[in-house]
Amino acid sequence: MMRPMDPRRLLPPPPDQSFASDNAAGVSPEVMDALAASNAGSALAYGDDQWTRRAEELLREAFDAPVRSYHCWGGTGANVVGLASILRPWQAVICADTAHIVVDECGAPARFSGATVIPVGTDDGKLTPEHLAPWLAWQGVEHHPQPAVVSITQSTEMGTLYSVEEIGTICDAAHRNGMLVHLDGARIANALVATGADLATMVRDTGVDVMTLGLTKDGAMFGETVVFVRPELDADARFVRKQAGQLVSKSRFVAVQVVALLADDLWLRNARHANEMASSLAEELAGTPGVTIDRAPEVNSVFARVPVAKTEQLQDWSFFWTWDRSAGLVRWMTSFATGRSDVERFADGIRAILAMGGPIASLP
Ligand SMILES: Cc1ncc(COP(=O)(O)O)c(C=O)c1O
Repeated sequence: MMRPMDPRRLLPPPPDQSFASDNAAGVSPEVMDALAASNAGSALAYGDDQWTRRAEELLREAFDAPVRSYHCWGGTGANVVGLASILRPWQAVICADTAHIVVDECGAPARFSGATVIPVGTDDGKLTPEHLAPWLAWQGVEHHPQPAVVSITQSTEMGTLYSVEEIGTICDAAHRNGMLVHLDGARIANALVATGADLATMVRDTGVDVMTLGLTKDGAMFGETVVFVRPELDADARFVRKQAGQLVSKSRFVAVQVVALLADDLWLRNARHANEMASSLAEELAGTPGVTIDRAPEVNSVFARVPVAKTEQLQDWSFFWTWDRSAGLVRWMTSFATGRSDVERFADGIRAILAMGGPIASLP
């Protein structure tokens, strides 16, 4: 008797690089080489080393300002260090309700700062001065946590981008009302290349006070850097970092990654490539029956709607995250490591699965 044909045979092999997230990628080869090179010999711990000094210098050059930088183990830790250094327990930080600091950090910024996190609903993950307005009435009233910091994410968790002008506008509104601005820049490099702005223009000149400068999603193995754009705000940072467990003993291995990424603009080349791959994926899938891409990608993610009944089959073939399962909203993310062949294979597989009638039979 003939065995029924296994429909999965019709599928291309899944792509080598995952579209689940940019932190599913490995390490940029140049960063790996730099890590290996810095492994020779000994260096004093906790940041008293030549790579940390060089990284500080490169960051001051990149911002064209006397910024102060603090390397941390990861992004949650860096947000904790930045926020807890500028917040007191009776204060509050306002952010979009999609912000990583409120959704994806297990309450760490609230726990370490003691401050209240106020999540505000937005259409696109971006705060405007209008979002701040209702909370200003709380200022000076002893019964309410005191709004003292506005936290924005660039590029946002929704794959959107603030323009330089929009960041300036929110910073002005915050400062006018006695608040500071924190920027979660886990994907700042993607935003810089997408807008053509540099750090001085996008961050220093707009008035951002402190930021997390993301490395991991852009080719580092681990580590992120808190940058106090206003250096006078860093008075508590060393103590907060140590208490939060974010002071890296062999800190040279974070610093050397900063050096490898910033020197020669590797971080921007990596981010540009990641953004281009997201655009290619959106172009490949344009017009595919069953796939709706409402917004052209602005950075390195594609938010698409696919038939809810097909989501699991697609994920089984090549995993990615759903954003709103009931609405079929999914996120496909690219990185410095995504190749054209990955984009083509991923698009081929999606087309093939969506073109299949029923669910895919499981193999015995
Ligand atoms: C916007 C944003 N901020 C911060 C982080 C850092 O998270 P982690 O603690 O996993 O390094 C992430 C990682 O997904 C992120 O997307």
